[in-house]
Amino acid sequence: MCGIVGYAGKRRVVPVLLEGLKKLEYRGYDSAGIVYLKDDELVTHRCEGKLSRLEASVEEVFGVQAHCGLGHTRWATHGAPTEQNAHPHTDCSGRLVVVHNGIIENYHSLREELKELGHTFTSETDTEVLAHLIEENLDTDLAQAVRRSLQRVEGSYALGVMSADFPGTLIAARSHSPLVMGIDDQGSSYLASDIPALLPYTNKVVFLEDEEMAILSDGAWQVCSLTTGDSLEKEISIIDWNAAMAEKAGYKHFMLKEIFEQPQAITNTVSGRINLETGEIVLPEINLTIKDFAAIDRIFLVACGTSWHAALVAKYWLEKYAKIPVEVDIASEFRYRNLLIDEKVLTISISQSGETADTLAGIRRAAQLGSKVITICNVVGSTMTREADGTLYTHAGPEIGVASTKAFISQLAALFLFTLYLSQVRKSIDAEQRRELGQHLIESAQTIEQILPRIQAEIRVLIDSFYDCRDFLFIGRGVNFPIALEGALKLKEISYIHAEGYAAGELKHGPIALIDKDMPVLAITPQDSVYQKSISNVEEIKARQGRIILLGSEGDEHLKSITDHIIYLPLVHEDINPIIYTIPAQLLSYEIAARRGCDVDQPRNLAKSVTVE
Ligand code: G6P
Repeated sequence: MCGIVGYAGKRRVVPVLLEGLKKLEYRGYDSAGIVYLKDDELVTHRCEGKLSRLEASVEEVFGVQAHCGLGHTRWATHGAPTEQNAHPHTDCSGRLVVVHNGIIENYHSLREELKELGHTFTSETDTEVLAHLIEENLDTDLAQAVRRSLQRVEGSYALGVMSADFPGTLIAARSHSPLVMGIDDQGSSYLASDIPALLPYTNKVVFLEDEEMAILSDGAWQVCSLTTGDSLEKEISIIDWNAAMAEKAGYKHFMLKEIFEQPQAITNTVSGRINLETGEIVLPEINLTIKDFAAIDRIFLVACGTSWHAALVAKYWLEKYAKIPVEVDIASEFRYRNLLIDEKVLTISISQSGETADTLAGIRRAAQLGSKVITICNVVGSTMTREADGTLYTHAGPEIGVASTKAFISQLAALFLFTLYLSQVRKSIDAEQRRELGQHLIESAQTIEQILPRIQAEIRVLIDSFYDCRDFLFIGRGVNFPIALEGALKLKEISYIHAEGYAAGELKHGPIALIDKDMPVLAITPQDSVYQKSISNVEEIKARQGRIILLGSEGDEHLKSITDHIIYLPLVHEDINPIIYTIPAQLLSYEIAARRGCDVDQPRNLAKSVTVE
């Protein structure tokens, strides 16, 4: 939801801002803008549409001698995605600018009040009130003017402010939207909504917390409390990602690269956490004691989007092996429903970014009601990891494609690992069974590595007859039902084909009415404990002239009597199937979207990190 970057130092600012925005474009791509200080004047460039348009329009100023500036890439909330509404927004004098991520909830009343005081507005955005409010409060100290202004503001923000009257200085502030500072050894200070924007320059970062403000200048930085104005001690964190990890490395799209990185993502997530001799699972960052776990009699899993699908799979695993009741909630529902939560509940948030607004609000509510909170998260130092009692990091590396792939696979690996861990704590399965299951999980990385090129080649052929469909159904049973949901989500988000995921047994309660030659069905039918039931459902579709794609187990000859469109997958332990069967579902969506000429990495209307409600 919008990306902001800032720079103050000795480098030429325009390339630094553009490079940073490129790394943040996954956060929104409705419009983009930059501003820098040159000869005592603020110079602003803004463009509707993707960053490439802005880039082309600033070609001539690429080498300009300017060393302090801000940039923004927008996902529109208030006001259409036009140039007029693109950030940065200026005050009446044109000497002060603001870039903003979040929503100013009381912007309407502030706007009316400021208009009465004579301010003139030029956009429909909530952000513009901030520029005028700061102008109204400005005397000799820019930081204090920002602080005073923010005391009037309700809502969420990550903010960058600069003024031609305070050259070389940037002010940053955060409340409920992510913001991180970068510092290097050459005396430069950077600002960004997310770490990948900083990686080309530095791996030393300072995370801003809610209600904190930073003053950045050439060679210096300081953080203080927005509430009291007092200076705060901050820790410098070292990030072990590097810039190359956030590049395409020869792949046509980030999504494809990330699909092929999945074996590594699983290996990174499980490595060092399973002892294959003793069956012991080691997760020290979970940070909960045996006593804490003994007090728990239920688990709530809370997440959004693809992460919610990972949670749905985990319910099957946790109930089967850790023998504990599990509820799974979409975070935007969880946060507002009547929660029967107390200290006997463990709440687990699952989030790639660790910043999703609804998920964050959900765990805050659960914590208020007395629940312990663990977060399963990919981004080190993100807000959820700082607020939860314990963390289980997925080590997928930076994920840039808006449609989540390797983050999902590593969430599944982490949740399987957590299931084994909880089974160990609760003594619900013995060490040998844990060891065996751990071994199956580790081996899943190698299995995927081996099948990826073959599956991609087979899917490229198979989609000839399916890429131009208008609708698609995905069905699965048991632990593979959430994979049907995930397959359908992937297809709709990147190819704009209408797709639905269903529990195969539910088909006859409605969706079967849709079956005809124009409604292809992808069915997940591995040889598992519900195989016969799944095959019966597929036969029902066949009897109604449905066109079927089957994902099934190698050696299952019966499938050939049902359809010609079969992708065979290796026989693995049935609880590992969701990890393996996700791969063809992802590749099917990817190949269809690529064939249709869709913008795979930046699908329309979407953003990777949803930091507003
Ligand atoms: C957005 C992304 C999805 C993601 C969801 C939850 O909708 O486009 O890919 O699954 O947010 O994000 P999180 O970072 O919390 O996993």
